[in-house]
Amino acid sequence: MGDNNDRGQNTRKRRTTISGAGVATLKRGHGNKSGACESIAANHSNASKEDKVRESPTTSRKDKGKHEDSGDKLSCHRIQESLLSSASGYSNYRGILNWCVVMLILSNARLFLENLIKYGILVDPIQVVSLFLEDPYSWPAPCLIIVSNIFIMAALYTERRLSVGTFGERTGAFLYLLNLSAILCFPVATVLTVSSLTPVGGVFVLAVYTIIFLKLYSYKDVNRWCREISHAKARSLSRSHSCPSVHRANGAAAHAQVSYPGNLTHRDMYYFMFAPTLCYELNFPRSPRIRKRFLLRRLFEMVFLMQLLVGLIQQWMVPTIQNSMKPFQDMDFSRIVERLLKLAVPNHFIWLIFFYWFFHSSMNFVAELMQFGDREFYRDWWNSETVTYFWANWNIPVHKWCLRHFYKPMLRKGVQKWVAQTAVFLMSAFFHEYLVSVPLKMFRLWAFMGMMAQIPLAWFVGRFLRGNYGNAAVWISLIIGQPIAVLMYVHDYYVLHFQQSPVEGAD
Ligand SMILES: CC(C)(COP(=O)(O)OP(=O)(O)OC[C@H]1O[C@@H](n2cnc3c(N)ncnc32)[C@H](O)[C@@H]1OP(=O)(O)O)[C@@H](O)C(=O)NCCC(=O)NCCS
Repeated sequence: MGDNNDRGQNTRKRRTTISGAGVATLKRGHGNKSGACESIAANHSNASKEDKVRESPTTSRKDKGKHEDSGDKLSCHRIQESLLSSASGYSNYRGILNWCVVMLILSNARLFLENLIKYGILVDPIQVVSLFLEDPYSWPAPCLIIVSNIFIMAALYTERRLSVGTFGERTGAFLYLLNLSAILCFPVATVLTVSSLTPVGGVFVLAVYTIIFLKLYSYKDVNRWCREISHAKARSLSRSHSCPSVHRANGAAAHAQVSYPGNLTHRDMYYFMFAPTLCYELNFPRSPRIRKRFLLRRLFEMVFLMQLLVGLIQQWMVPTIQNSMKPFQDMDFSRIVERLLKLAVPNHFIWLIFFYWFFHSSMNFVAELMQFGDREFYRDWWNSETVTYFWANWNIPVHKWCLRHFYKPMLRKGVQKWVAQTAVFLMSAFFHEYLVSVPLKMFRLWAFMGMMAQIPLAWFVGRFLRGNYGNAAVWISLIIGQPIAVLMYVHDYYVLHFQQSPVEGAD
């Protein structure tokens, strides 16, 4: 007991001596702006006065203890705000976040069990191979990708001719027009005519050709800019014929710097083709070495998440989509909405996992392997409070390309900002539709309209919603918008190709 009393007194004493620091901590924890903090500070000054009285030399130790005891007994309140009121300035919601995660896991564990009980195990890795290969003796997708080298070489040789002046700029532009048009049209013609190419194989081929198109467009622009700079320098009697960007130090002394036209080599071209960027540069920033542990971690993530994605699609997405067909055919509106909301959950999870798999694991893996230094593949799109912020931050390679080769050139020509933004979204909508409609061999414009709908949505969110409300609106558009497009395409695809009866006992 006596021990306890001593300990109690010591604690009180410590409280008195550290009260200044304690208030400082409180101030930090509660934010400076709140009125509550001012009250706390005022309290503190009163408390200090009391402390001084208590610590006067005339007060005996015993009396002091009595004073403290009676003070504590008599007053146990001070002016302060409740933690959950905004005036308290309290912001540590870590526990709430953990609660959200636990609730998410529990509710999805229930969904997972329900799914297993109802459908059994649907995951079948062998079936995935059949999505790429219909006929084991015919490999149209890999063949098409090998053929793409012709277009890459055409761009390189055109540039070489342009650099020595064999072709003029107009001829070069015309050849590029032919080459870039062929890159977009050739795979379309092949996908639409070769029956052994599956829709998934078709998406893969068209995605590769779209990437090559965007990369070669950038290659063309940058080499032209280098020529323009060389000519400008030559006109100003400068002896240097190199591109100024060449001299920019990028912290990669180990890699030799190249200058125009020394960059027009097969090695340089293929480095760019495999590098995780759509924007060409003569001297990419390079990382000093390959970190093996980092590489292996990314490789493990790639393999694991790929399996997880396939499993979730087979086990969760496919049955939900199949069960959504009947309400669509019956035009049962309330059931359609119910199906849509049901599909939104797996679709959103799959999209989030895909984001991490592609933009973090895969791109970092390739970048590490190629010692490509710029790893900004995404920014904090999850904090987006506006739709434009989301589009400017979730896919940085595409956004960077749009800015550098489409948006800014338009602005420099005096095009109005909203017109330039609409043009970028129009182009993006075209490519979204291109990547979906051609492999499915049906032209429904759902992806196109989904992308174009971003413009009025961006206006609405920017105009009427701010802060957390804006952020919630962006999340809702992502969670609900995508399954709408998915359901539209799948429904139309089923109606067109199968028209089979939906799975019985849909729930
Ligand atoms: C349309 C889009 C390019 C607009 O981007 P944004 O960042 O909101 O555009 P902003 O108007 O804020 O300006 C961007 C840049 O242009 C510059 N800029 C603005 N007005 C300019 C002008 N008149 N002249 C030159 N530059 C100008 C800005 O300084 C800024 O430069 P910085 O990036 O170096 O800072 C973007 O929303 C986008 O990429 N959309 C499509 C994305 C997409 O389809 N992605 C597909 C993913 S699957």
